[in-house]
Amino acid sequence: MANFFGDNIFKFGVFGINCAGGLTPSIAPERWRADWNEMADVARLADEAGVEFMLPIAKWHGLGGKADMWGRSFETFTQAAALAMITRRIGIFVTAHVSLITPAFAAKAIATVDHASGGRAGLNIVCGWNPDEFKPHGIKLDGEHRYDRGLEWYKIFAKLLEGGPKFDWKSQYFDLEGLVTDPLPLRPPPIMSAAQSGDGQSFAAEIADILFTSLQDIDVTSRTVQTLRSLAARHGRKPDVYVQTQFVCKPTRKEAEDYAHYYAVEMADPDALEYFARQRSSTMSKSTKGGGSESDRELAATLAGQKKRRFPGMMAGTYPIIGTPDDIVAELHRISAAGISGSTLVFLNYLQELPYFIQEVLPRMEKAGLRSKFAAAA
Ligand SMILES: Cc1cc2nc3c(=O)[nH]c(=O)nc-3n(C[C@H](O)[C@H](O)[C@H](O)COP(=O)(O)O)c2cc1C
Repeated sequence: MANFFGDNIFKFGVFGINCAGGLTPSIAPERWRADWNEMADVARLADEAGVEFMLPIAKWHGLGGKADMWGRSFETFTQAAALAMITRRIGIFVTAHVSLITPAFAAKAIATVDHASGGRAGLNIVCGWNPDEFKPHGIKLDGEHRYDRGLEWYKIFAKLLEGGPKFDWKSQYFDLEGLVTDPLPLRPPPIMSAAQSGDGQSFAAEIADILFTSLQDIDVTSRTVQTLRSLAARHGRKPDVYVQTQFVCKPTRKEAEDYAHYYAVEMADPDALEYFARQRSSTMSKSTKGGGSESDRELAATLAGQKKRRFPGMMAGTYPIIGTPDDIVAELHRISAAGISGSTLVFLNYLQELPYFIQEVLPRMEKAGLRSKFAAAA
């Protein structure tokens, strides 16, 4: 694929600052509140440090429990346009539930973000998993067919971005007339697809530049990279794989482990986790129900509670990386060697923890040959 965000061997994206709780189902009092000014500060810090992209979570419903993680969340297109105004280089993804917005709306909105940001917009497609999020919109989520519908949605969206004359579209899920869009984005936006199941991988192989997926076991995800690449080759594509990582980085290993234990074990929000597993299980993909791929089986076992997780107060599918800056780089080296192109920067409190990560981990990534020095003035 084209190298959207520079030449670094291993890339980073800040994930989830638009939602209260970020990716951490914890009741620790210093958890992320999604305060606008703090979000803006994180975006500026990441921009100035050469982090490749910002990636929001699309959310319409909280997880309940004591913290009601995600109960407060900013909408992603409007947030992206605002971030475009206060940053200069960082890529800005929007995350769109394709069952909630029309392709014509998405084409116009992504063009708006792209023009406002000078060509830095990307689209993360999510097909949805929590039926409660769709009820306020009067939509019933269909877990079995979400990718079939998503594929049609994407084809209409992609045709709109070709910029041709008006066209109509009639197919199983859409009956649309007079489709046209102007302006076009300044350049084709990178397409990310966030999913874990085999069905989700097939979808990403057909349409995406990036599969954004979970990481539990580096060997399993390494094989997912191979599977995705061979599926994508049939469509003439070569998508990259990015994974979800969460960091606890401290000067000593003990400090890091103690802090992770405090917020992600002692302070984990069990009711939120139970609600997540229940809702996520209620809309399993066909391939997960059928135990199709290794990652389907991994997902099904996690949702059924068969896999004991060391840090329940981190989202299922997030890979915890805990330790000193040197420990962190060593682990990222293993992940990179598995064929994974990048991962997310997720912290309990982004504004408190990102500066140390930038100061200590990024220079070590340069020394390790995984990233090059970021020339802020370039
Ligand atoms: C790494 C990752 C990030 C995701 N981000 C979102 C999100 O922001 N909003 C959302 O509603 N779903 C999100 N999802 C859910 C997926 O889009 C998808 O609906 C869900 O994983 C079910 O599909 P699957 O069975 O193919 O994994 C994410 C999933 C993964 C694995």
